[in-house]
Parts: sequence; structure tokens; C-alpha cells
Amino acid sequence: MYKIEPDIRRAATLPGTFYNAPEAFEACKEHVFARSWQLITDADETVRLPHDAMPFSFMDNFMEEPLLLLRDGADALHCLSNVCTHRGKILVEHAGRLERGIVCGYHGRRFQMNGTFVAMPESQGMENFPCAADNLPALPVRQWRQFIFTSLDPAFPFDTWIEGVERKIGFLPIETFRFSAARSRDYLVRANWALYCDNYLEGFHIPFVHKGLANLLDWNSYRTELDRWGNCQIGISKGGVEVFDLPPGHEDYGQMVSAYYYWLFPNLMLNFYPWGLSMNIVRPLQPNLCKVSFRAYVWDETKLGAGAGADVDLVEREDEAVVEQVQIGTRSRFYQHGRFSPEREQGVHQFHRLLAEMLG
Ligand code: FES
Ligand SMILES: [Fe+2]
Repeated sequence: MYKIEPDIRRAATLPGTFYNAPEAFEACKEHVFARSWQLITDADETVRLPHDAMPFSFMDNFMEEPLLLLRDGADALHCLSNVCTHRGKILVEHAGRLERGIVCGYHGRRFQMNGTFVAMPESQGMENFPCAADNLPALPVRQWRQFIFTSLDPAFPFDTWIEGVERKIGFLPIETFRFSAARSRDYLVRANWALYCDNYLEGFHIPFVHKGLANLLDWNSYRTELDRWGNCQIGISKGGVEVFDLPPGHEDYGQMVSAYYYWLFPNLMLNFYPWGLSMNIVRPLQPNLCKVSFRAYVWDETKLGAGAGADVDLVEREDEAVVEQVQIGTRSRFYQHGRFSPEREQGVHQFHRLLAEMLG
């Protein structure tokens, strides 16, 4: 369906129709989102203690798959289907503690915390019962630092996906970063989710779109490093304002890094600054509408006002404005597709290659 030339010098971008056609948007559900890793929550916020449970939808208003995250009595996490295997009632409706295992409120079917069927009233005489289909389907669940992820049907291992972040940023005590609700908010963007990612994946536009940020970053040393399922953009400080204190032996030791912009396929962005982490999750809603959740995790409050991570709200609004203009442009009958700058758009090229690979 889509093909992206591996050689960036010859490659063309995804066509404008990709960002507008309902069929392309739908295809991403099963081929991209069902097959990738999605953040559920962080362990400080929910499911902190044994027997804690939290119902959630895989992706709100996009892929409404009812799921249940819980911590069993032995402290292990599970992610299960939240649909009763009898007649399909939602099992757990509200977050809370499940002291007696999972019990369906409709006809009393019971399950262990790992989803195994236990019993059901009035089942005498039923043949071939219980069988494997009576258990709740279990999804993979992975925790990295305080963050908990799942996947409906992963196309690649979690460890391969996250290892670049761990290698680059693992020296920071990320698990001690504290979520700040006051510094977090959602943005509704009138653009396709992938356009928002395209824009994120190149620093090419920084001097044109983010004048304030451009004054802080050294344009010539701005670079992108690719992993198999993600990439990292590295912002080097112009004047040495607010940079990371990199430990000896770190691959960037000796450089004045003021920001690590990590993107993980398809829709997760982890922006590390000396003050902490600004996480962006891009969630599709319609072909021309997405929601971008900005979640701030503060490490060092004293560094919040300075450097490349000082005004993430302004930078976001500048990005939003330009991306909405691109959405309009990609609908034009005169726009087919574009080209990649080999020097400045390796990240966008990688994203388009991965999308084309997943969409088949
Ligand atoms: S639907 Fe759950 S026991 Fe009947
Ligand atoms: Fe930007």
C-alpha cells in the first residue's frame, strides 16, 4: 500500500492522502496501534498496592478496548480483558481494591487476579466447561521505571523498543521524578496524529518556527540518532545555559546537552531537560484531529525556568499552529508528496519507513 525508499536521498514522503483518507486512518488502528506499545499509567498514580485495580480503555475515542490493570496479592502486575467471558458484561467499572478477586456483577462468575476462571453459579450440566476460553485474555504488561505499558499484539519486543532511552537517559533517577498536574495539560490539535509526529521528528523548523528556542540551541550541532523503533534528537546549548551533568563514560560526555528529545514509535515522546521530563502522548481521534497530552515530571524545580525546556507551552502552541496549516495543505489536489532533507529529516524518514513497513 505504501512504500518508502530506504535511501533518504531518493526517498519521497508519505502522500498527502495518508493524512486525510479515512481508510488510511482506520488501517493504522490494527496495523500500527494494536501492534505497538502504549502507556497505561504510572505506578505512583494507580495500582500502587496489592489488589489495586484500574479499568481503562486501550485508546479513548479511538480504540475502545476495555482492559483492566491490576496488581495481584504477590505484587505482580497483570493486564486483562475487562469483559466477562460469560455474556460480556464489563467486569470492573471503577478503580479500587479487589480483595476477593474479580467477580462479575451480572451472574457471579469469578476469576483469579491473573484472569484464570474460578467458578460460576448454576453451571452444573454444562459440557466442556470450564475451558481455556472461560479465562480472561491476558495482555503483556511491562514496567519501565514508574511507567506501565501494554500492547494488544506487539510486533516488536518491549525491551528493544525502550533500550535506546535507557542507554541515553538511564543515568537519571527517572523513577524519582514527580508528576506535576499543574504543569500538565492536553492540547486538541486539528491535524492528523502522524503530522504532529512528523513535525516533532525534525529540528529543521526550529529556526523558522521557534525563534526563542533557536536562540538557545546550537543549530550546527543539533542532531538525530536513530534506533530500530525510535530516535533521539540532541539539542546542544549555545551558551551553556542549563545543561545535563553527564556522568563520565556517557556517550555524550563532554558535550553541553540541554535537551534529549526521545521519540518512540508510533506516538510517544519523552523530552528530557535538566529540570525533568515532559512527556507527550499523541492520540488519534479523527483523520484530521488528535489530542496531545503533555505530562510533566519534575526532578529539579530550581531549573524549571531556564534553558531549552523553559517554555514548553509556547513551543507546543507554535508547533500546533504550523501543523494545522500543514493539515490543510496536505488536502490540496496539487500536493502529492514531499522530499526529505538528508541532513535534517532522518527522523521523519525513519517514521515514514516504519509506518509503511507496518501498514504492509
Ligand atoms: S456476564 Fe458475567 S457472569 Fe454473566
Ligand atoms: Fe517544533
